[in-house]
Amino acid sequence: MKNVAVLISGRGSNLKALIDAEQDAYRIALVVSNVEDAGGLAIARDAGIATFALAHKGYARADFDDIVDEHLRAHAIEAVALAGYMRILSPGFVARWSGRMINIHPSLLPLHKGLHTHERAIAAGDAEAGCSVHLVTAGLDEGPVLAQARVPILPNDSADTLAARVLVEEHRLYPRALADLVRTL
Ligand code: GRF
Repeated sequence: MKNVAVLISGRGSNLKALIDAEQDAYRIALVVSNVEDAGGLAIARDAGIATFALAHKGYARADFDDIVDEHLRAHAIEAVALAGYMRILSPGFVARWSGRMINIHPSLLPLHKGLHTHERAIAAGDAEAGCSVHLVTAGLDEGPVLAQARVPILPNDSADTLAARVLVEEHRLYPRALADLVRTL
């Protein structure tokens, strides 16, 4: 059983999926948010999970990440799952968690890195969309892909309908990918 921290900035539906799927591989010991009123914080508190929320405004990137890192260490965290964490990480933090930090991205990487993935998949005429879990490296959404799930793009899809179809798959994929990662640590 590995202690995991989940880093969020928003509603926390992937956090909820990770909590609901908790089995013997990992235990979510801490939820960190850089947005003090992120909806996911309430999900964590309801589940009895320790939280640390701090707005990043006014902090140099590396200083903010050092504060987060202190909390990860204080909670004996062994792996980190980014789940809608809308903050680019400092190189030092990425290096410290190398091989132990994953992200979920709502596209079939290497397609559509960055934001507005669903709009871009539709605009590109892609036949399929999906989500990818990847190891976090210095480049945004660039680390090795560990797992993917695919969905069709339907003729009348909007970004919202496609996002909803992909999100169902995110919630299935992320807990499995996290469990697989921590078993290798
Ligand atoms: C998800 O679509 C995830 O793939 C992306 O950010 C979104 C977070 O949603 N990185 P939630 O906060 O987990 O509901």
